[in-house]
Amino acid sequence: MNDTLPNESEAFRYFLDICEQTAYKYGVKPIFVPILEETALFKRSVGESSDIVGKEMYRFTDKGENDVCMRPEGTAGVVRAFVQAKLDRAGGRHAWYYWGPMFRYERPQKGRLRQFHQFGVEIFGEADITEDVNAICMIADIFDVLEIKFSVKINSLGCNECSPSYRQKLVAFLENIKHELCEDCHRRIITNPLRTLDCKVEKCKAHLVSAPKITDNLCLSCENDFTKLQKLLQLKNIPFEVDKNLVRGLDYYNKTAFEFTADTGGSQNAVAGGGRYDKLVEFLDGKPTPAVGFAIGIERVLPLINVAEEKRDGLYLCTTIESELETIFLRGLELRKHFVTHISYDTKQIKNHLKNADRSNALLFVCIGDEENENGEVWIKNLRTKEESKIPQGELEQYLARILN
Ligand code: HAM
Repeated sequence: MNDTLPNESEAFRYFLDICEQTAYKYGVKPIFVPILEETALFKRSVGESSDIVGKEMYRFTDKGENDVCMRPEGTAGVVRAFVQAKLDRAGGRHAWYYWGPMFRYERPQKGRLRQFHQFGVEIFGEADITEDVNAICMIADIFDVLEIKFSVKINSLGCNECSPSYRQKLVAFLENIKHELCEDCHRRIITNPLRTLDCKVEKCKAHLVSAPKITDNLCLSCENDFTKLQKLLQLKNIPFEVDKNLVRGLDYYNKTAFEFTADTGGSQNAVAGGGRYDKLVEFLDGKPTPAVGFAIGIERVLPLINVAEEKRDGLYLCTTIESELETIFLRGLELRKHFVTHISYDTKQIKNHLKNADRSNALLFVCIGDEENENGEVWIKNLRTKEESKIPQGELEQYLARILN
């Protein structure tokens, strides 16, 4: 669990600004949901057989004997809120975004944290596959602004029509090679056979190469949708590749599943993931409502962002005269109503004041020394251009407004 100190928090803030501006252009509105939810919510949505629920939940019983956990992801809570607000019955399209901490008790390593942050979007009410392209384009737009190079893997997981017969085919195949598979895969054959396709154990991977693939077993409607999805992505010039083994680690997806990777040189380079989940609203006791969404892993994106060079702003106000300290302090508080103002509380030597002003990232150094005090002036140095000037004290506000606003 990381601290985010100011050297990173600026990039964090900048990233969120870009996400929020992009979401706004796509007509997506903010939603805030609790971090703590009933454990049952995640069991029902993310799925008991998933690693996230089975192994990684921060789960406890509260003082009221409720079985709760810190959310491992955002979709389930947003769907719960959607149903609880009865928007499933209102109909229409509802597009929401959120950001905040998620918790997974994973083995920590580079790019994998136990508390991490996501920016996520969930769109309810549109069954057309064009909405999936819309979601993918939103992430692409965000990464383009941030100048992050990415590629997208897509797959179709089928629907209620085609996935049960595919599942049967896959289980039959897995039973035949069971003796070659790892313990986890033995369990997966029963709980969620699709997940075997995602196994990271080399021996399993080798044997699963010849497993039947869902994309070769889609019903006509899913196949048409998957073709349309690819055509639209091509037209939008989004670089993608079909990954027939992409199953994602959460149980609620149907049809489209996608993952964005960035060339980070590390293994944890999945920077965003998402897909369609048309059955989840109904599964969480709402009226059947198609939905699609995604989440971006903020900590995985931050190292890829080039934050603009240090930005100087505001002023550093100081004096070298003991008797002027109080006046300077009160004047500084007034100036703060309009400008970023750093106030020095003591009378250092000029060179120490200048050093502090530089550290504070102020643009203007504003000082009243003996000479300026006698002449009713202030001494100003622009710390970017190094230009110096003296102006009457009474004209300070106007001067600052001209330079800083
Ligand atoms: P997810 O793939 O589990 O999907 O997570 C989305 C992103 O969160 C990942 O691509 C990764 O960048 C980041 N992430 C996941 N785990 C960690 C970790 N331990 N440390 C750092 N970053 C991590 C979801 O969570 C779905 N709720 C996405 C979604 C929304 N699908 C539909 N709507």
